Amino acid sequence: MNRHQGNADRGQPVSGGPAASGRRNFLAEFAAMVCGGLAFLAPVGAGVWMFLDPLRRRGAAAAFLPVTELSGIPDDGVPRQFPVVADRVDAWTGFAAEPIGAVYLCRQKGSQTVEALSATCPHAGCFVEIDKAEKCFRCPCHNSRFTIDGGIVAPSPSPRAMDGLECQVGKNGAVAVKWQNFYTGIAEKVARP
Ligand code: FES
Repeated sequence: MNRHQGNADRGQPVSGGPAASGRRNFLAEFAAMVCGGLAFLAPVGAGVWMFLDPLRRRGAAAAFLPVTELSGIPDDGVPRQFPVVADRVDAWTGFAAEPIGAVYLCRQKGSQTVEALSATCPHAGCFVEIDKAEKCFRCPCHNSRFTIDGGIVAPSPSPRAMDGLECQVGKNGAVAVKWQNFYTGIAEKVARP
């Protein structure tokens, strides 16, 4: 009687027997399941990351957006309104080069410096209009009034002056504004996320 026959006779598994073969099959199936699971989860994880991407970007810092050229702003101290255009992401839909707001830009005689005011009324968010005859700003919604440099004219529904924005003039004369929205209806100027 050889050694394998002896083990089989005693009811013990033998190398290469049915029990060992079953164990190998189990390990192979388990490894296949793990690999299959990883192969499935990797694209799902990437998909979830892409799905949440607009939410991540919503908290991004305000950016300087090109608005006009310095030569497009007369140096007569009178504010001019310009649209602010940018690519916009609304939830999970992208919109290319859409108006997202407006600014008033103003330049004094011979100056290369540009002052920028948001055209959004701090009271409730309507667009402020310029009254050239009276040299002031007016909001058509609830009649808030502002001086030509954005200061509040009391009494006024607006709780604060018009919101100033950072402005840059590039070496090539390009004028860019750091576009931000601010909470309306409060006395403090607080940027929205
Ligand atoms: S929104 Fe401008 S006065 Fe109310």
